[in-house]
Amino acid sequence: MQEKKIVYFDKPGKENTETTLRLAIERARELGIRFLVVASSYGETALKALDMIDEKTQLVVVTYHTGFVREGENTMPPDLEDELRRRGVKLVRQSHILSGLERSISRKLGGVSRTEAIAETLRSLFGHGLKVCVEITIMAADSGAIPIEEVVAVGGKSRGADTAVVIRPAHMNNFFDMEIREIICMPRFKRSNP
Ligand SMILES: Cc1cc2nc3c(=O)[nH]c(=O)nc-3n(C[C@H](O)[C@H](O)[C@H](O)COP(=O)(O)O)c2cc1C
Repeated sequence: MQEKKIVYFDKPGKENTETTLRLAIERARELGIRFLVVASSYGETALKALDMIDEKTQLVVVTYHTGFVREGENTMPPDLEDELRRRGVKLVRQSHILSGLERSISRKLGGVSRTEAIAETLRSLFGHGLKVCVEITIMAADSGAIPIEEVVAVGGKSRGADTAVVIRPAHMNNFFDMEIREIICMPRFKRSNP
């Protein structure tokens, strides 16, 4: 048995970014975890994480797939992406696992896929940040950026970070092998106006 501290933020959102990253990095160090997986759409959270991390932990940044916001375009500015790569960050940009092709079908034809139901369950019950932690960990594993060993994952609501977990990754074809082993921090209220 282990007793651990969990930090609950009053509200989800970007203002929790620094504390989330600090707690995530501390816990990774305590557990000897080698990989920190962080969601960053425009690169801001990635840079913050990079400035806080030490060389014992590999930073893996997962960003939006090309075309997520505008057809054919990336959200992360190229100079920032270059800087991240130059400073040793592994950058993952690939199709989003918890929406996938199904999102196009739901948008065009209506209904909802099983994958989207899983995503919405995670979002509604545990918050956007935790859904993101699950999704980016699979994306990082499927692109070969992390091995299947305990990692710390960090996600947030729209921008920044507010949730960190210790997680055992899985590939998209073995989703139910995934385990959320520890919640390091998360917003107590999941919606901005509960
Ligand atoms: C693959 C992926 C999926 C995401 N899905 C969601 C989501 O469902 N809900 C949400 O509020 N934010 C979502 N985000 C945003 C992240 O949780 C995080 O807040 C953001 O990437 C930080 O970007 P920034 O560093 O540019 O602020 C997603 C980000 C990525 C990269």
